Amino acid sequence: MSLDIYAERLIQYYEHPHNKGKLPGASVELHEENVTCGDKMTIYLKIRQNIVEDIKFDGDGCAISMASASMITDFVKGKSLEEVEKMTISTVMEIIGIDPGPARLHCATLSTRAIKGAVFAYQHKPMDLSTKEM
Ligand code: FES
Repeated sequence: MSLDIYAERLIQYYEHPHNKGKLPGASVELHEENVTCGDKMTIYLKIRQNIVEDIKFDGDGCAISMASASMITDFVKGKSLEEVEKMTISTVMEIIGIDPGPARLHCATLSTRAIKGAVFAYQHKPMDLSTKEM
């Protein structure tokens, strides 16, 4: 796909987000904030037998953070907690299809940081360093 197609896809996800809203009865929820811009996001996960059965995100942010959250929540649905724990910045880049550059990396990874944080919290584990650095 050309860069234009990736950018267009990102705009589509921003304008028509998937998995946006609250999730009543969530197994865990986690609020995350981008200290650099103040944008906020809450992630809700419904977990059953170690699998992310359902996921939603809520919050306000820039187009990259909202579109990424939309794509990444689609990706995470149905994954095991172990698979989610292993997600890296490269995983995020693969899913969204573009490299947002160093200045906007925190936008692209906000939802993944929140999702992984929620999974760690659910398992009563401390957040690992690679997630903290996203
Ligand atoms: Fe705040 Fe992108 S500018 S998340």
